[in-house]
Order: sequence, then C-alpha cells, then structure tokens
Amino acid sequence: MPLLEVTDLTVRYRTGAVGVQDVSFSVEPSQIVAVLGAAGAGKSTTVRGISGFLRAEGARVVKGSVRFQGRDITGREPHQVCGLGVFAVPERRKIFPNLSVHDNLEALGARLVKGERRAAVEALVFELFPDLARDRRRLAGRLSGGQQQMLAIGRALMADPKLLIVDEMTLGLHPSLHEPLFAAVQRIAAAGSAVLLVDESTGRTLEVAQHCVLLKSGHVLAAGPSADFIGNEVLVAGYVGT
Ligand SMILES: Nc1ncnc2c1ncn2[C@@H]1O[C@H](COP(=O)(O)OP(=O)(O)OP(=O)(O)O)[C@@H](O)[C@H]1O
Ligand SMILES: [Mg+2]
Repeated sequence: MPLLEVTDLTVRYRTGAVGVQDVSFSVEPSQIVAVLGAAGAGKSTTVRGISGFLRAEGARVVKGSVRFQGRDITGREPHQVCGLGVFAVPERRKIFPNLSVHDNLEALGARLVKGERRAAVEALVFELFPDLARDRRRLAGRLSGGQQQMLAIGRALMADPKLLIVDEMTLGLHPSLHEPLFAAVQRIAAAGSAVLLVDESTGRTLEVAQHCVLLKSGHVLAAGPSADFIGNEVLVAGYVGT
C-alpha cells in the first residue's frame, strides 16, 4: 500500500478558479517525490489538498480523494492530518516571528514525540541545521530567510512526520543555501520520512527525487521516474505555453 495516494483530486477556489483537476499520483514510504510545473500549474493547490490548508485559502475538494496509509483524509482539517503524521511547510507564512527558535520548534507536534524518539529527531534537526541549535534563544523573526526556512523544516521534523511536504523550498533564498537544503531533504528521506518537494530548481529537484509529477494548467502533464524527466522535452513543454 502506498503511503499517500491522491486520486482524481479536483480542487476549486471560491473565486471559481479550478486549482487542480483529476490529479493522481502516489508516494511510497521514504520516497522523495517532486511536484513540478510553471506558475499557476497547481503545485500549491495539490499541497494544500493533502495538508488540509484549503479552507483557509477559500478552496475545497470537489472531486477525488486523498488517502494516507489507506485512510481517507479527503477534506480533513490540518490538525487532523498532522495527527496522522503529515506536516507541510507552506510557501509563505512559515514561522512564528515573535517566538524564539526554541518555541517555534516546540510549536507543532514536538510534544507528541516522546523519549528516545524525541531525542533522535531533535538530534537530526540540529545535525541538519546547526544554526538552529546556536540561535535557539533568538526571535525567529530576526533570522535570515534561509534560517527561517530551516526552522520551518526543523519544526515539521520535530513532529517525526511520515510525510514531509515542502512548498517552494529555495524560493528567494541565496544560492549558497540551496545545496544544504537539498542535502537535508535527502538525509530526511534516508532517516525514514517521505518528502513531497516543490521547488523551482527543477534540475536539482529531479536529482534528489525518485519520482516526478509534472503539472500543467491544473492537470498532470506527465509522471514517472525522475530520471526520465532530466533533459526530456516534456519538462520544457511543462513550462512553456499554456
Ligand atoms: N488563494 C487562491 N484563490 C484563488 N485562486 C487561487 C488561489 N491560489 C491559487 N489559485 C489558482 O489556482 C490555480 C493553481 O495555482 P497554484 O497556486 O496551486 O499554482 P502553483 O503551481 O503553486 O503556482 P506558483 O508557482 O505560482 O506557486 C491558479 O489558476 C491560481 O490562480
Ligand atoms: Mg505555489
């Protein structure tokens, strides 16, 4: 059974805009899956449809289903989805700027993780992002953009997710920070969490992911092993024209 199974997902916004239509794909445990596509292709809508953050954006699932570990989670609220082990880092509003780094790390599902497991996830977060250990007492709003992204990912990891979703991981960040973030994603998957990754650095995203879903105008244009997309004209077709 796949970890996540999205079937014919169709999401409509209150404005009447169709966010995605008939999107289907699955994610296996510990797998990294890339969701690629041009601006407005439906990447964030797909992410929201899984993580439950649709209502806040004035959207709802009008067709299709999302199953996690065999359980139907279609249209569930974020806290319910988090309770099952799905944590998303959204494309904006990632952290609580008026809380310390430490309090941000504790703010999501960290308290649900106990004992040795808690020590292990905390050790992983600080191994991946040593800045967070050093700046534990700082206000999160004073961190750089890159550090805030690391904090957002670290906070999700503290909840020991089975599926981590990161939307626009490197957008707007200095290029020197891209590689540490991609390396972190690989390490997170090796440690046992599946990752659904949205990023505009298509080349690097395809290298770290095993599977790719290419969206265009709300539809799946192509899907398959990431290697099949590297240097393939279908990738160009995904980003050109309408
Ligand atoms: N909050 C919203 N309200 C209304 N329509 C929206 C909203 N968010 C997205 N849409 C619409 O849904 C469609 C898919 O957009 P979405 O944001 O999912 O694309 P995306 O691939 O994440 O794009 P980007 O690369 O710009 O982040 C677009 O037509 C967009 O206009
Ligand atoms: Mg988006």
